[in-house]
Amino acid sequence: MNTIALVGAQWGDEGKGKVIDILASSADYVVRATGGSNAGHTVVCGENVYKLHLIPSGILYPNTVNIIGNGVVVDPKVLLEEMASLKAQGVEFGKNLIIDVRAHVVLPYHKTLDELAEKAKGKDAIGTTKRGIGPCYADKSDRIGIRMIDFIDPDTFAQKLKSNLALKNKIITAVYGGEPLDYNAVLDEYNGYAKQLAKFCCDTGAVLYDAIKADKRVIFEGAQGALLDLDSGTYPFVTSSHPITGGFCAGAGVGPTAIKECLGIAKAYTTRVGAGPFPTELNDEVGDHLLNVGHEFGTTTGRARRCGWLDAVILRLAVRINGLTSLAINKLDTLTGIKKLKIATHYMRDGQRVDNFPADISLLERCVPVYEEFDGWTEDISSVRSYDELPQNAKKYIDAVERLCECKVSMIGVGADRDQNIYRDR
Ligand code: IMP
Repeated sequence: MNTIALVGAQWGDEGKGKVIDILASSADYVVRATGGSNAGHTVVCGENVYKLHLIPSGILYPNTVNIIGNGVVVDPKVLLEEMASLKAQGVEFGKNLIIDVRAHVVLPYHKTLDELAEKAKGKDAIGTTKRGIGPCYADKSDRIGIRMIDFIDPDTFAQKLKSNLALKNKIITAVYGGEPLDYNAVLDEYNGYAKQLAKFCCDTGAVLYDAIKADKRVIFEGAQGALLDLDSGTYPFVTSSHPITGGFCAGAGVGPTAIKECLGIAKAYTTRVGAGPFPTELNDEVGDHLLNVGHEFGTTTGRARRCGWLDAVILRLAVRINGLTSLAINKLDTLTGIKKLKIATHYMRDGQRVDNFPADISLLERCVPVYEEFDGWTEDISSVRSYDELPQNAKKYIDAVERLCECKVSMIGVGADRDQNIYRDR
């Protein structure tokens, strides 16, 4: 079997787009199975920078089929805008993109409700991307969601939109004091999108199953990261899907034996956007270094990311819940020039050692990271292509990651470009 899952091992933004893009060049299929337009992948290819939110990264290769699986929540407007901007950069759309008929559709009321709910939470706001992700998944669980199959059938869409909008408008006005949405305006606008997207819709799970049986090369492309998982992450400061390898199975319509390798992607340090606990966060000049040298600003929202030391406690959680077979460590070059580097090995709370990531965020907030310290390096590593050529201290850092996370490091990123990598295990 020729299948691999690429999954975020921290709080998202680990540079998955770059790794996915490298592997996508030799993939037959690239599958998105979770999340929606809350995700943002930046792929740098020479002079060209591609920003992807919903479309899998294989779209940059003409012979790769890109699947938006049943577990994704699809915002048709964002998807069509993204297609238009890729078309302007020379990407053609034909048989290289398919969308599952079971995928749920993000509609304007989901975005309105996301925004209003966040505002109402005040200081307890999650810091969502306001892309309507939570409200859309909530409708899916509540069994009132509108799926692509409903969306592309004008009669079904009109009828489901009518009943949903009646209910949502009551919530928008009576609960939040917001402005109701106009049924006819939404219907007309979104019918236009449905017409354009209908030809891309099919049962992608069946297509994928046949591809795997035929030993095609398949990549499951993760969005977000392990710590944002609805069950295992820093609940409630999480997203509303399962951005972990188990979630890829449900969201792509295949079983767990369909995934052979699970590659976790992490940065050489940690970042997080939005609210919620972050034990190794740095609010000092090292944090500023990581923010500025690492260009840590969100692809989707442009927000500055919170930055901190690498945390082996969260990476061990990622290894466990994803069944990782190896790790890719990105942005090692961002650490160049920092005199002393630190990795959190475990936490201490009320005099007790904590090795496993706590479920209760109020307990987590009381955890103090315990660090192992490493000497840094000053040499420019951006043109290093083999492990042996890395400065001794950089090698020590990577060896420590393997030891503390109990997972081998198969790939190291030393720059944003596609070829700025060190492979230890192809
Ligand atoms: P939502 O997914 O928009 O509901 O946001 C929930 C939480 O997940 C917020 O803290 C977001 O900042 C975070 N989040 C969602 N998508 C991403 C992502 O692609 N990268 C990093 N954080 C994300």
